[in-house]
Amino acid sequence: MAEHTATHPAGGTPPGSLEPLELLYEEAGQPRFGLPPALATAYGGDLGFTPPCVYANFVTSIDGVVALGPEYPSSGSAISGREPADRFVMGLLRACADAVLIGAGTLRATPGHRWTPDHVCPQAAPDFAELRRSLGRATQPDLVVVTASGDVPTEHPALQSGALVATTVDGARRLDGRLPAACTILTAVEGSTLRMADVLAALRAHGRTAVLTEGGPHLIGHLLGEDLLDELFLTTSPVLAGRTDTSRPGLIEGLELLPNRPAWMELISTRRRDSYLFLRYRLRPPRAHAGPESALPR
Ligand SMILES: NC(=O)c1ccc[n+]([C@@H]2O[C@H](COP(=O)([O-])OP(=O)(O)OC[C@H]3O[C@@H](n4cnc5c(N)ncnc54)[C@H](OP(=O)(O)O)[C@@H]3O)[C@@H](O)[C@H]2O)c1
Repeated sequence: MAEHTATHPAGGTPPGSLEPLELLYEEAGQPRFGLPPALATAYGGDLGFTPPCVYANFVTSIDGVVALGPEYPSSGSAISGREPADRFVMGLLRACADAVLIGAGTLRATPGHRWTPDHVCPQAAPDFAELRRSLGRATQPDLVVVTASGDVPTEHPALQSGALVATTVDGARRLDGRLPAACTILTAVEGSTLRMADVLAALRAHGRTAVLTEGGPHLIGHLLGEDLLDELFLTTSPVLAGRTDTSRPGLIEGLELLPNRPAWMELISTRRRDSYLFLRYRLRPPRAHAGPESALPR
């Protein structure tokens, strides 16, 4: 494979056998938490967020596929090849969050998963715990599941160990008596779609101001449709996924943006590990690209 950086610029020893990410570019002036040295070394620098914020993390194939279709469970892992650096970044982003927000489709498609930092990168668990202590966060981020139907696998370990469920009145009715005791209904609204602004407001009312979303594509569509996403962390995995006539979504489903409502983004940082790219983008505020006369990329 490609050469690795032998030095540890942030001064710590990375957790386990993790090779540090190589920092290729970073915009000046980013907020910084002051990561524990082992995490800063593995990440190739510091990281921070200014709450309230909603940031997404996805892995995509080079040809823009983020899910392989309903017949393939845990397709994010297939796309990432379970690359340790990607799992480390997933863990680190979870460790920074008050809450991890997912749609029911992602829960249903990922049996056995736990949306905790330690689940994806156990070798960094002590360092993630140290980070959360230093940020005054709870031991683990809350898992928040959004479901209109209430059709969720209640035996799923992520629900068994406790989650907040945002649903509809019908969904709450369907879940009545089935939801594990460790779970709480966060909201139950009339109608068939939840306003994500209301879900985020409910979380903020409970002090959950730094929210990581791990999708999936429909949930991202809802968040973008309401202009609620601040940042996107995107891992480009060095693989081609391909498509036939099966459903292999890209990052966003259920929402068309170009050409009438383009969502331009600004690059905050780029990191590399072997042939994997770790990109961090900020959504430009809609008013910054409102008119055709604005200075947009061609
Ligand atoms: N590559 C990656 O990084 C990545 C990340 C995440 C997921 N994935 C993959 O994506 C696939 C799942 O895609 P998906 O788009 O179906 O997942 P999704 O967005 O997690 O789930 C969609 C479901 O979430 C609920 N939902 C989302 N927003 C809602 C809203 N505003 N109001 C009411 N309900 C809402 C609905 O649940 P109900 O149907 O219960 O009503 C909806 O059908 C899986 O294969 C998964 O592995 C990949």
